[in-house]
Amino acid sequence: MTNSKRDGFGSRFGVLVAVAGSAIGLGNLWRFPYLVGNNGGAAFIVVYITVAIVLCLPIMISEFIIGRRTQSNAIGAIKKLAPKSGWLSIGVISVATAFMISCFYSVVGGWTLEYIVKSFSSGFLVNDSGALTKTFSNFTTSPVRPAVMMLIYLAINAFIVSAGIKNGIEKYAKILMPALFVLIIILAIRSLTLPGAQAGLSFLFNPDFSKLTAGSVLAALGQAFFSLSVGMGCIITYGSYVDKKENLMNISLTTAIADTTFAILAGLAIIPAVFAFGISPGEGPGLVFITLPQIFAQMPFGHVISFAFFVILLVAAITSSISLLEVVVAYFVEELKMSRRVATLITFSVIGLFGVLCSLSLGELKEMTLFGKNMFDLFDYTTSNIMLPVGGLLIVLFVGWKIRREDVRDELFNGGVIPFKRTLFNWIMIGIKFLAPIAIAFILLNGIGLIKLF
Ligand code: PHE
Repeated sequence: MTNSKRDGFGSRFGVLVAVAGSAIGLGNLWRFPYLVGNNGGAAFIVVYITVAIVLCLPIMISEFIIGRRTQSNAIGAIKKLAPKSGWLSIGVISVATAFMISCFYSVVGGWTLEYIVKSFSSGFLVNDSGALTKTFSNFTTSPVRPAVMMLIYLAINAFIVSAGIKNGIEKYAKILMPALFVLIIILAIRSLTLPGAQAGLSFLFNPDFSKLTAGSVLAALGQAFFSLSVGMGCIITYGSYVDKKENLMNISLTTAIADTTFAILAGLAIIPAVFAFGISPGEGPGLVFITLPQIFAQMPFGHVISFAFFVILLVAAITSSISLLEVVVAYFVEELKMSRRVATLITFSVIGLFGVLCSLSLGELKEMTLFGKNMFDLFDYTTSNIMLPVGGLLIVLFVGWKIRREDVRDELFNGGVIPFKRTLFNWIMIGIKFLAPIAIAFILLNGIGLIKLF
């Protein structure tokens, strides 16, 4: 099924940085720290890590199998494996979810651009949470500036994606990802060496399970899906560009470890500093945009540190949102036979339009709500907590029950090139066939209140 003309990753390092680049993003730096803050700290982290390893890893492996086997975009892949069947919904949910996440993700991407610029403007870094809250809310609720920033952010993404896989996504990820790790480690060291950082450490590492609710377990599940970029065809799409000689199990495990390590590093960079300055960690989505600048204001060279942090945020965000865009662009290119340039332009325009609406939904259009949520929150909540788990559930069911066991084995062990390990294979199959689908279904139904387990 190899198509010699098809673009693809050029090296193993390229695959690893691109997939880790997709996983590591605003999810780790913006969402994870505030969810940890809102859901009681260490107990949430324990559930998060368990879910990431036990449930998300089988999904990631399943997505890689689908993608690499078919060498196709998310919809095309399912069409090849199960033509004219209901399974096609996996592909459709994937493209829809990628589109919806891209909309609100680009809005936050635009905020990071704004805060990079702001880092050096006088009067921004003040030790006054009231003033910083005002700066944040004035900016995010105003009609024009955040929308423009969002469009600039999206244009950078479109530029990279239109250059393709090897010369676009892979090329940039190779430079940006190592830089990202170096920067976050420096920031974590700075935060940990602040006087009073200890309280933050015990918040992060001493679990109190009585704080967990059905809602917070669902939030941990949604966050694990979101952070690992699984459940929406992103890994199917990237997997389709992976060479036949690569070891899919290794790539999946390395990605999961890199992403979780990065989330913990982000926690270490943010939470101890929050405690050192006596601020509450439960600030919600404003945590990194309100609380952190207040902390930077109290540090020597605060402007430089602020600048460095928001550059990290931008870099991490870009290597993720290009993978979201690629899901949609690959579909347009392969199924609707468009050139990559045209496909990228259309994707940019439609996401741009809905992105503007998401941005406006925090200000001018905040009255326009559904289920009590504005468009930004609605897209964020439904994609992470419902669409990703449902997508992930269907993906593991598909690989576990629809694809032939021999084909799964063939893809995992590269047709026998990788020595076959029966026990490992059996465990992976148990995860894919039973463990992941049953656990996801229970957490999902429990979290949205349809059944009552805990
Ligand atoms: N994993 C990315 C993050 O943590 C977000 C993302 C979700 C990217 C789904 C691709 C697919 O920021």
